[in-house]
Amino acid sequence: MFSQLQPVATDPILGLMAAYQQDSNPNKIDLGVGVYKDEQGHTAVLKCVKKAEAMRLAKEDSKTYIGMAGDLGFNQHIEKLAFGAEHPALLAGRLTTAHTPGGTGALRVAAEFIKRANPDATIWVTTPTWANHISLFQAAGLKVKEYSYYDYDTKGLLEEQMFAELAQVQPGDVVLVHACCHNPSGLDLTFAQWQRFTALAKERGFTPLVDMAYQGFGAGLDEDAAGLRHLAAEVEEMILCSSCSKNFGLYRERIGACTLLAASQSIAETSRSVLLSVVRSIYSMPPAHGAIIVSHILDSQELTALWHQELAEMRNRINDYRQLIVDKFAAEGIQQDFSFITRQHGMFSFLGISKEQIECLKSEFSIYMVGSSRVSIAGLNHSNIDYFAKSVATVLK
Ligand code: LMR
Repeated sequence: MFSQLQPVATDPILGLMAAYQQDSNPNKIDLGVGVYKDEQGHTAVLKCVKKAEAMRLAKEDSKTYIGMAGDLGFNQHIEKLAFGAEHPALLAGRLTTAHTPGGTGALRVAAEFIKRANPDATIWVTTPTWANHISLFQAAGLKVKEYSYYDYDTKGLLEEQMFAELAQVQPGDVVLVHACCHNPSGLDLTFAQWQRFTALAKERGFTPLVDMAYQGFGAGLDEDAAGLRHLAAEVEEMILCSSCSKNFGLYRERIGACTLLAASQSIAETSRSVLLSVVRSIYSMPPAHGAIIVSHILDSQELTALWHQELAEMRNRINDYRQLIVDKFAAEGIQQDFSFITRQHGMFSFLGISKEQIECLKSEFSIYMVGSSRVSIAGLNHSNIDYFAKSVATVLK
Protein backbone atom coordinates (compact mmCIF):
# COMPACT_ATOMS: atom_id res chain seq x y z
CA MET A 1 0.00 0.00 0.00
CA PHE A 2 2.67 2.50 0.99
CA SER A 3 4.56 1.90 -2.24
CA GLN A 4 1.69 3.54 -4.14
CA LEU A 5 2.32 6.88 -2.45
CA GLN A 6 3.73 9.91 -4.25
CA PRO A 7 6.03 12.30 -2.31
CA VAL A 8 4.44 15.52 -1.09
CA ALA A 9 6.29 18.84 -1.37
CA THR A 10 7.65 20.19 1.91
CA ASP A 11 5.46 22.78 3.64
CA PRO A 12 6.56 26.24 2.37
CA ILE A 13 6.93 27.69 5.87
CA LEU A 14 8.07 24.73 7.97
CA GLY A 15 10.40 23.52 5.18
CA LEU A 16 12.13 26.91 5.24
CA MET A 17 12.61 26.59 9.00
CA ALA A 18 14.37 23.24 8.50
CA ALA A 19 16.56 24.60 5.65
CA TYR A 20 17.62 27.53 7.85
CA GLN A 21 18.62 25.20 10.69
CA GLN A 22 20.90 23.25 8.33
CA ASP A 23 22.62 26.35 6.92
CA SER A 24 26.15 26.73 8.36
CA ASN A 25 26.63 30.41 7.32
CA PRO A 26 27.23 32.36 10.58
CA ASN A 27 25.49 35.41 9.03
CA LYS A 28 22.27 33.54 8.23
CA ILE A 29 18.98 35.27 9.04
CA ASP A 30 15.64 33.54 9.59
CA LEU A 31 12.76 35.75 8.42
CA GLY A 32 10.56 32.75 7.64
CA VAL A 33 8.31 31.28 10.28
CA GLY A 34 6.04 33.55 12.36
CA VAL A 35 7.88 33.19 15.64
CA TYR A 36 8.91 36.12 17.82
CA LYS A 37 12.62 36.57 18.48
CA ASP A 38 14.22 39.10 20.82
CA GLU A 39 17.27 41.33 20.23
CA GLN A 40 19.51 38.30 20.86
CA GLY A 41 17.65 36.31 18.20
CA HIS A 42 16.18 34.08 20.91
CA THR A 43 12.57 32.92 21.38
CA ALA A 44 12.54 33.10 25.17
CA VAL A 45 9.82 31.72 27.44
CA LEU A 46 7.83 34.72 28.75
CA LYS A 47 8.42 35.55 32.42
CA CYS A 48 4.68 35.36 33.13
CA VAL A 49 4.66 31.85 31.65
CA LYS A 50 7.62 30.74 33.80
CA LYS A 51 5.81 31.99 36.90
CA ALA A 52 2.55 30.31 35.92
CA GLU A 53 4.41 27.06 35.23
CA ALA A 54 5.93 27.15 38.71
CA MET A 55 2.42 27.61 40.15
CA ARG A 56 1.12 24.74 38.07
CA LEU A 57 3.88 22.42 39.24
CA ALA A 58 3.07 23.22 42.86
CA LYS A 59 -0.72 22.98 42.46
CA GLU A 60 -1.23 20.12 40.01
CA ASP A 61 -2.57 17.05 41.77
CA SER A 62 -3.94 14.93 38.93
CA LYS A 63 -3.30 14.02 35.31
CA THR A 64 -6.79 12.69 34.65
CA TYR A 65 -8.56 13.57 31.38
CA ILE A 66 -9.89 17.11 31.06
CA GLY A 67 -12.81 16.47 28.69
CA MET A 68 -13.51 17.25 25.06
CA ALA A 69 -13.93 21.03 25.51
CA GLY A 70 -10.61 21.20 27.36
CA ASP A 71 -10.03 23.56 30.26
CA LEU A 72 -13.28 25.37 31.06
CA GLY A 73 -11.55 28.21 32.92
CA PHE A 74 -9.35 28.83 29.89
CA ASN A 75 -12.40 28.83 27.62
CA GLN A 76 -14.07 31.54 29.69
CA HIS A 77 -10.92 33.65 29.72
CA ILE A 78 -10.43 33.33 25.99
CA GLU A 79 -14.01 34.47 25.27
CA LYS A 80 -13.48 37.56 27.42
CA LEU A 81 -10.11 38.28 25.86
CA ALA A 82 -11.47 38.07 22.32
CA PHE A 83 -14.94 39.59 22.72
CA GLY A 84 -14.52 41.76 25.83
CA ALA A 85 -16.10 40.87 29.20
CA GLU A 86 -19.26 42.89 28.52
CA HIS A 87 -19.94 41.80 24.97
CA PRO A 88 -23.72 41.28 24.42
CA ALA A 89 -23.14 37.90 22.72
CA LEU A 90 -21.22 36.66 25.75
CA LEU A 91 -23.77 38.01 28.24
CA ALA A 92 -26.60 36.40 26.26
CA GLY A 93 -24.94 32.95 26.49
CA ARG A 94 -24.59 32.75 22.70
CA LEU A 95 -20.88 31.81 22.78
CA THR A 96 -19.45 28.35 23.25
CA THR A 97 -15.74 27.46 23.19
CA ALA A 98 -13.55 24.38 22.97
CA HIS A 99 -9.85 24.72 23.58
CA THR A 100 -7.90 23.06 20.79
CA PRO A 101 -4.37 21.92 19.95
CA GLY A 102 -3.14 25.27 18.58
CA GLY A 103 -4.78 27.70 16.19
CA THR A 104 -4.37 25.15 13.39
CA GLY A 105 -6.32 22.64 15.49
CA ALA A 106 -9.04 25.26 15.96
CA LEU A 107 -9.26 25.78 12.20
CA ARG A 108 -9.48 22.06 11.52
CA VAL A 109 -12.21 21.64 14.15
CA ALA A 110 -14.04 24.61 12.62
CA ALA A 111 -13.74 23.07 9.16
CA GLU A 112 -15.19 19.74 10.34
CA PHE A 113 -17.96 21.60 12.18
CA ILE A 114 -18.84 23.55 9.01
CA LYS A 115 -18.92 20.28 7.07
CA ARG A 116 -21.46 18.88 9.55
CA ALA A 117 -23.58 22.04 9.48
CA ASN A 118 -23.53 22.43 5.70
CA PRO A 119 -21.73 19.70 3.70
CA ASP A 120 -22.00 21.85 0.55
CA ALA A 121 -20.44 24.96 2.06
CA THR A 122 -17.70 26.80 0.20
CA ILE A 123 -15.16 28.62 2.31
CA TRP A 124 -13.78 31.88 0.91
CA VAL A 125 -10.26 32.98 1.81
CA THR A 126 -8.30 36.14 1.05
CA THR A 127 -5.78 36.31 -1.81
CA PRO A 128 -3.17 35.87 -0.50
CA THR A 129 -3.70 34.01 2.76
CA TRP A 130 -1.74 31.90 5.25
CA ALA A 131 -0.07 29.11 3.27
CA ASN A 132 -1.83 26.37 5.28
CA HIS A 133 -5.42 27.68 5.07
CA ILE A 134 -6.32 26.27 1.67
CA SER A 135 -4.86 22.78 2.13
CA LEU A 136 -6.29 22.54 5.63
CA PHE A 137 -9.85 23.30 4.49
CA GLN A 138 -9.54 21.07 1.43
CA ALA A 139 -8.29 18.23 3.63
CA ALA A 140 -11.52 18.56 5.62
CA GLY A 141 -13.49 18.19 2.36
CA LEU A 142 -14.60 21.81 2.00
CA LYS A 143 -14.64 23.64 -1.32
CA VAL A 144 -12.30 26.64 -1.17
CA LYS A 145 -12.54 29.84 -3.20
CA GLU A 146 -10.48 33.00 -2.96
CA TYR A 147 -11.53 36.64 -2.84
CA SER A 148 -9.39 39.66 -3.73
CA TYR A 149 -7.65 41.32 -0.83
CA TYR A 150 -4.10 42.62 -1.22
CA ASP A 151 -3.13 44.93 -4.05
CA TYR A 152 0.50 44.13 -4.90
CA ASP A 153 0.83 47.45 -6.78
CA THR A 154 -0.54 49.94 -4.29
CA LYS A 155 0.19 47.76 -1.19
CA GLY A 156 -3.35 48.59 -0.08
CA LEU A 157 -6.69 46.78 0.00
CA LEU A 158 -8.49 45.91 -3.24
CA GLU A 159 -11.57 47.20 -1.49
CA GLU A 160 -14.12 47.57 -4.27
CA GLN A 161 -13.08 44.30 -5.90
CA MET A 162 -13.21 42.50 -2.56
CA PHE A 163 -16.72 43.69 -1.69
CA ALA A 164 -18.00 43.06 -5.21
CA GLU A 165 -16.77 39.45 -5.02
CA LEU A 166 -18.14 38.91 -1.52
CA ALA A 167 -21.51 40.20 -2.71
CA GLN A 168 -21.71 36.99 -4.80
CA VAL A 169 -21.20 34.66 -1.83
CA GLN A 170 -24.15 32.34 -1.23
CA PRO A 171 -26.06 32.06 2.07
CA GLY A 172 -24.65 29.07 3.95
CA ASP A 173 -21.12 29.70 2.69
CA VAL A 174 -18.32 30.77 5.00
CA VAL A 175 -15.99 33.75 4.58
CA LEU A 176 -12.67 33.67 6.40
CA VAL A 177 -11.40 37.05 7.56
CA HIS A 178 -8.18 37.74 9.48
CA ALA A 179 -8.94 39.54 12.76
CA CYS A 180 -5.67 41.50 12.71
CA CYS A 181 -2.05 41.26 11.55
CA HIS A 182 -3.07 39.73 8.22
CA ASN A 183 -0.87 36.76 7.42
CA PRO A 184 1.05 37.12 5.10
CA SER A 185 0.60 40.78 4.03
CA GLY A 186 0.34 42.71 7.33
CA LEU A 187 -2.51 44.71 5.74
CA ASP A 188 -5.53 44.94 8.06
CA LEU A 189 -9.10 46.11 7.52
CA THR A 190 -9.91 49.53 8.92
CA PHE A 191 -12.88 49.79 11.27
CA ALA A 192 -14.97 51.28 8.46
CA GLN A 193 -14.09 48.26 6.29
CA TRP A 194 -15.13 45.93 9.14
CA GLN A 195 -18.47 47.76 9.25
CA ARG A 196 -18.87 47.28 5.53
CA PHE A 197 -17.95 43.58 5.83
CA THR A 198 -20.47 43.18 8.66
CA ALA A 199 -23.27 44.78 6.66
CA LEU A 200 -22.53 42.48 3.73
CA ALA A 201 -22.44 39.35 5.93
CA LYS A 202 -25.92 40.28 7.22
CA GLU A 203 -27.24 41.07 3.77
CA ARG A 204 -25.85 37.93 2.07
CA GLY A 205 -26.37 35.55 5.02
CA PHE A 206 -22.90 34.04 4.93
CA THR A 207 -21.12 32.92 8.10
CA PRO A 208 -17.88 34.74 8.96
CA LEU A 209 -14.95 32.69 10.24
CA VAL A 210 -12.53 35.01 11.99
CA ASP A 211 -8.95 33.78 12.32
CA MET A 212 -7.13 35.54 15.14
CA ALA A 213 -3.61 34.17 15.57
CA TYR A 214 -1.93 37.45 16.54
CA GLN A 215 -4.13 39.31 19.06
CA GLY A 216 -1.94 41.93 20.72
CA PHE A 217 0.72 42.06 17.99
CA GLY A 218 -1.02 44.79 15.96
CA ALA A 219 -2.10 47.83 17.98
CA GLY A 220 -3.08 46.17 21.30
CA LEU A 221 -5.33 43.44 22.72
CA ASP A 222 -8.58 45.43 22.52
CA GLU A 223 -7.68 47.36 19.37
CA ASP A 224 -6.88 44.15 17.48
CA ALA A 225 -10.26 42.66 18.39
CA ALA A 226 -12.36 45.77 17.65
CA GLY A 227 -13.42 44.58 14.19
CA LEU A 228 -14.51 41.13 15.28
CA ARG A 229 -16.33 42.55 18.32
CA HIS A 230 -18.36 44.78 16.03
CA LEU A 231 -19.08 41.87 13.70
CA ALA A 232 -20.13 39.63 16.61
CA ALA A 233 -22.52 42.28 17.90
CA GLU A 234 -24.33 42.39 14.57
CA VAL A 235 -24.39 38.93 12.98
CA GLU A 236 -26.43 35.93 14.10
CA GLU A 237 -23.60 33.48 13.85
CA MET A 238 -19.87 33.34 13.38
CA ILE A 239 -16.84 31.19 14.20
CA LEU A 240 -13.67 32.44 15.85
CA CYS A 241 -10.40 30.51 15.75
CA SER A 242 -7.78 31.93 18.07
CA SER A 243 -4.27 31.01 19.12
CA CYS A 244 -2.02 31.56 22.14
CA SER A 245 1.12 30.54 20.23
CA LYS A 246 2.32 34.06 19.54
CA ASN A 247 0.84 36.34 22.21
CA PHE A 248 1.74 33.97 25.08
CA GLY A 249 4.81 32.57 23.28
CA LEU A 250 3.41 29.06 23.83
CA TYR A 251 4.10 27.80 20.31
CA ARG A 252 5.08 24.22 21.06
CA GLU A 253 2.42 23.74 23.75
CA ARG A 254 -0.20 23.89 20.97
CA ILE A 255 -2.90 26.00 22.55
CA GLY A 256 -5.76 27.65 20.69
CA ALA A 257 -9.54 27.81 20.78
CA CYS A 258 -12.56 27.43 18.56
CA THR A 259 -15.47 29.64 19.63
CA LEU A 260 -18.93 29.51 18.08
CA LEU A 261 -21.37 32.41 18.19
CA ALA A 262 -24.92 31.13 17.67
CA ALA A 263 -28.21 32.96 17.15
CA SER A 264 -29.51 31.95 20.59
CA GLN A 265 -28.37 30.17 23.74
CA SER A 266 -30.28 27.03 22.80
CA ILE A 267 -28.70 26.90 19.32
CA ALA A 268 -25.33 27.46 21.00
CA GLU A 269 -25.96 24.39 23.19
CA THR A 270 -26.86 22.22 20.20
CA SER A 271 -23.86 23.57 18.28
CA ARG A 272 -21.65 22.72 21.25
CA SER A 273 -22.77 19.10 21.16
CA VAL A 274 -21.75 18.92 17.48
CA LEU A 275 -18.46 20.70 18.18
CA LEU A 276 -17.58 18.24 20.94
CA SER A 277 -18.47 15.27 18.78
CA VAL A 278 -16.12 16.66 16.09
CA VAL A 279 -13.36 16.94 18.71
CA ARG A 280 -14.02 13.39 19.95
CA SER A 281 -13.71 11.99 16.46
CA ILE A 282 -10.39 13.73 15.73
CA TYR A 283 -8.29 13.76 18.92
CA SER A 284 -10.77 13.08 21.74
CA MET A 285 -9.56 15.92 23.96
CA PRO A 286 -6.80 18.54 23.86
CA PRO A 287 -3.53 18.60 25.84
CA ALA A 288 -3.94 20.57 29.08
CA HIS A 289 -0.63 22.24 29.84
CA GLY A 290 -0.83 25.38 27.67
CA ALA A 291 -4.43 26.12 28.60
CA ILE A 292 -3.74 25.87 32.31
CA ILE A 293 -0.73 28.18 31.99
CA VAL A 294 -2.90 30.79 30.23
CA SER A 295 -5.61 30.35 32.87
CA HIS A 296 -3.12 30.86 35.71
CA ILE A 297 -1.88 34.06 34.05
CA LEU A 298 -5.35 35.46 33.43
CA ASP A 299 -6.60 34.42 36.89
CA SER A 300 -3.91 36.60 38.47
CA GLN A 301 -3.89 40.40 38.22
CA GLU A 302 -0.15 40.45 38.78
CA LEU A 303 0.63 37.90 36.06
CA THR A 304 -1.84 39.54 33.68
CA ALA A 305 -0.06 42.89 34.16
CA LEU A 306 3.30 41.22 33.51
CA TRP A 307 1.90 39.54 30.38
CA HIS A 308 0.56 42.87 29.06
CA GLN A 309 4.01 44.38 29.58
CA GLU A 310 5.83 41.52 27.84
CA LEU A 311 3.35 41.53 24.96
CA ALA A 312 3.79 45.30 24.53
CA GLU A 313 7.58 44.83 24.44
CA MET A 314 7.27 42.30 21.61
CA ARG A 315 4.82 44.50 19.69
CA ASN A 316 6.90 47.64 20.11
CA ARG A 317 10.14 45.95 19.08
CA ILE A 318 8.55 44.80 15.83
CA ASN A 319 7.08 48.24 15.17
CA ASP A 320 10.45 49.92 15.81
CA TYR A 321 12.02 47.62 13.25
CA ARG A 322 9.41 48.54 10.64
CA GLN A 323 10.76 52.10 10.64
CA LEU A 324 14.36 50.91 10.94
CA ILE A 325 14.07 48.74 7.82
CA VAL A 326 12.78 51.70 5.83
CA ASP A 327 15.59 53.94 7.15
CA LYS A 328 18.33 51.36 6.52
CA PHE A 329 17.08 50.68 2.99
CA ALA A 330 17.21 54.41 2.28
CA ALA A 331 20.73 54.62 3.78
CA GLU A 332 21.83 51.83 1.43
CA GLY A 333 20.65 53.93 -1.49
CA ILE A 334 17.59 51.83 -2.35
CA GLN A 335 15.38 54.07 -4.51
CA GLN A 336 12.22 51.94 -4.36
CA ASP A 337 9.55 53.17 -1.92
CA PHE A 338 9.30 50.78 1.04
CA SER A 339 7.38 53.16 3.32
CA PHE A 340 4.39 50.80 3.18
CA ILE A 341 6.25 48.56 5.68
CA THR A 342 5.46 51.09 8.42
CA ARG A 343 1.75 50.96 7.60
CA GLN A 344 1.46 47.16 7.92
CA HIS A 345 0.62 45.41 11.19
CA GLY A 346 1.83 42.42 13.16
CA MET A 347 4.58 39.91 12.69
CA PHE A 348 4.86 40.14 8.90
CA SER A 349 5.52 42.37 5.96
CA PHE A 350 5.48 41.69 2.26
CA LEU A 351 8.61 43.14 0.67
CA GLY A 352 7.13 42.81 -2.81
CA ILE A 353 10.40 41.63 -4.39
CA SER A 354 10.68 39.00 -7.13
CA LYS A 355 11.03 35.21 -6.78
CA GLU A 356 14.56 35.47 -8.25
CA GLN A 357 15.54 38.10 -5.69
CA ILE A 358 14.12 35.99 -2.84
CA GLU A 359 16.04 32.95 -4.11
CA CYS A 360 19.23 34.98 -4.44
CA LEU A 361 18.90 36.30 -0.88
CA LYS A 362 18.69 32.69 0.28
CA SER A 363 21.41 31.13 -1.86
CA GLU A 364 23.93 34.00 -1.80
CA PHE A 365 23.29 35.60 1.59
CA SER A 366 21.55 32.89 3.68
CA ILE A 367 18.56 35.19 4.26
CA TYR A 368 15.40 33.10 4.49
CA MET A 369 11.92 34.45 3.75
CA VAL A 370 8.71 32.82 2.47
CA GLY A 371 8.42 32.62 -1.35
CA SER A 372 5.73 35.32 -1.40
CA SER A 373 8.40 37.77 -0.05
CA ARG A 374 6.79 37.61 3.40
CA VAL A 375 9.30 38.52 6.09
CA SER A 376 8.89 37.84 9.79
CA ILE A 377 10.22 41.13 11.13
CA ALA A 378 11.15 39.79 14.58
CA GLY A 379 13.99 37.86 12.89
CA LEU A 380 15.84 41.17 12.58
CA ASN A 381 18.00 42.67 15.34
CA HIS A 382 20.80 45.20 15.73
CA SER A 383 23.46 42.61 14.82
CA ASN A 384 21.91 41.60 11.49
CA ILE A 385 19.85 44.57 10.21
CA ASP A 386 22.81 46.16 8.36
CA TYR A 387 23.73 42.87 6.69
CA PHE A 388 20.07 42.44 5.74
CA ALA A 389 19.75 45.96 4.26
CA LYS A 390 23.03 45.65 2.33
CA SER A 391 22.05 42.23 0.95
CA VAL A 392 18.64 43.49 -0.18
CA ALA A 393 20.28 46.53 -1.78
CA THR A 394 22.67 44.20 -3.65
CA VAL A 395 19.92 41.96 -5.04
CA LEU A 396 17.72 44.93 -5.99
CA LYS A 397 20.52 46.46 -8.16
C1 LMR B 1 3.45 31.23 10.18
O1 LMR B 1 2.60 31.64 9.38
O2 LMR B 1 4.66 31.35 10.01
C2 LMR B 1 2.99 30.58 11.46
O3 LMR B 1 1.62 30.64 11.57
C3 LMR B 1 3.57 29.24 11.67
C4 LMR B 1 2.94 28.17 10.81
O4 LMR B 1 2.49 27.18 11.38
O5 LMR B 1 2.91 28.31 9.59
